[in-house]
Amino acid sequence: GNCICKENYRPKYHFTPDSMWMNDPNGMVYYEGEYHLFYQYYPDSTVWGPMHWGHAVSTDLMHWEHLPIGLYPDSLGWIFSGSAVIDWKNTSGFGSKENPPMIAIYTYHSQSIEKEGRNDFQYQGLAYSLDKGRNWTKYKGNPVLPNPGIRDFRDPKVMWYEERQKWIMSLAVKDHVSFYSSPDLKSWKHESDFGLNTGGHGGVWECPDLFKLKAENGTEKWVLLVSVNPGGPNGGSATQYFIGEFDGHEFRNENSTMDPIWLDYGKDNYAGVTWSDVPQKDGRRLFIGWMSNWQYATVVPTKKWRSATTLPRELSLVEKGGHYEMFGKPVKEFDSILVDKPTEKIENLELNDNVEEVFKGAVKGTVWYASYMVDITETKTFSIQLNNSLNENVGIKLDIEANRIEFDRNNAGKIDFSPEFAVPISGRYSFKQKNIKVELFWDASSLELFINEGQFQMTNLVFPKDNWNSMKLNSVGKAKVIEASYVSVNQVVNK
Ligand code: FRU
Repeated sequence: GNCICKENYRPKYHFTPDSMWMNDPNGMVYYEGEYHLFYQYYPDSTVWGPMHWGHAVSTDLMHWEHLPIGLYPDSLGWIFSGSAVIDWKNTSGFGSKENPPMIAIYTYHSQSIEKEGRNDFQYQGLAYSLDKGRNWTKYKGNPVLPNPGIRDFRDPKVMWYEERQKWIMSLAVKDHVSFYSSPDLKSWKHESDFGLNTGGHGGVWECPDLFKLKAENGTEKWVLLVSVNPGGPNGGSATQYFIGEFDGHEFRNENSTMDPIWLDYGKDNYAGVTWSDVPQKDGRRLFIGWMSNWQYATVVPTKKWRSATTLPRELSLVEKGGHYEMFGKPVKEFDSILVDKPTEKIENLELNDNVEEVFKGAVKGTVWYASYMVDITETKTFSIQLNNSLNENVGIKLDIEANRIEFDRNNAGKIDFSPEFAVPISGRYSFKQKNIKVELFWDASSLELFINEGQFQMTNLVFPKDNWNSMKLNSVGKAKVIEASYVSVNQVVNK
């Protein structure tokens, strides 16, 4: 009896825990052909509680195999977010060079200390595995980084800094990121702080990630991701990023604006960080986020489980007139789960202040991918609306004149579980090109939107009461759909 066939909102190609509560992705690391995904997990309830690290592995980032819980709470506390690395040189001494340890660096959150009214209830600990992440041993010297008396002191993301042969930890400390260094992961030295006077400060800083990215022109820059909750561009949780330099001691921000730059302008992409130890010959920087928002994560209308991850995305750096911008788009492995050929294709469809319904009734199943290439030279706005038999809809509007992209889920099915859910959602985008590419990835309860190969990302949950079965296009001014197609996606997870 494990029939999940009635779980209408269970994603078909996004990772979910089999049952119970999930939040942040944790400890993503690649090792010996496997992508590991750990996650904030509470196995006893569908709402947040004493945190564990759930665990899954994949060889292609699409098909996930559930594994037993990786880390359980212990006498030092619950296991909050953190990262994992392969200690290739065995600097920690937990393994050997022949069998390098996989090491998890995470935050302990001590309820009992918090209850005493003290502020030092979060500190960092280590655990290691010598069998590809299957069995874990907590380090007996924990905690490795005690708390200096600050309430928010968490989410360590560690990387090997080759230039100086040392580990660097980025840590979220209330309203900034602190960098620490270590020769062996066990003793940590404070290096510097970043962010007090820059970026979005509508809430507490969480889940930082520092990594190097190489632009197409060969230039290397450092990117710092920082999640903030609340304070996102459309309310609640969101992830911002900074681009600059890092010298092993401090991060220097080169963002050209004082306004925060958001990784994703939707409401449902939070606490995302990147995979460690992806082989150099692959060279990709791979990201995954938690597809929810703390405003309503605990009340979304699913029963057996709560929360999914975003599609895994490849991050890249693009130079635009002397500045660098980060792009993010679904990994190429996604193509392997498409159902053969485009299910339907249209070409050279001209709109002129009118509505055209496309792909009508042709949809099979709940999950699609659609792509549009549109000439917007004479367009004021171009909209795509998904519809179903119940007259529910989701609207995406490219406001070319206003340089803005809007998302409307106010009539998209279940919305009344939270007043924060059906609110206006939009993001800035400057429409500079003649042709614009719009890609939509939707699953049973989400829609991820990408513009121009990931220059703009927007991820939102939606809970329709029936499958989407057509799309209505409309424009103010002329718009020419040069080409559009949709294709069904195979169910690859949660069968
Ligand atoms: C982010 C977060 C982290 C913390 C974890 C607790 O969503 O608040 O800062 O480690 O969730 O589950």
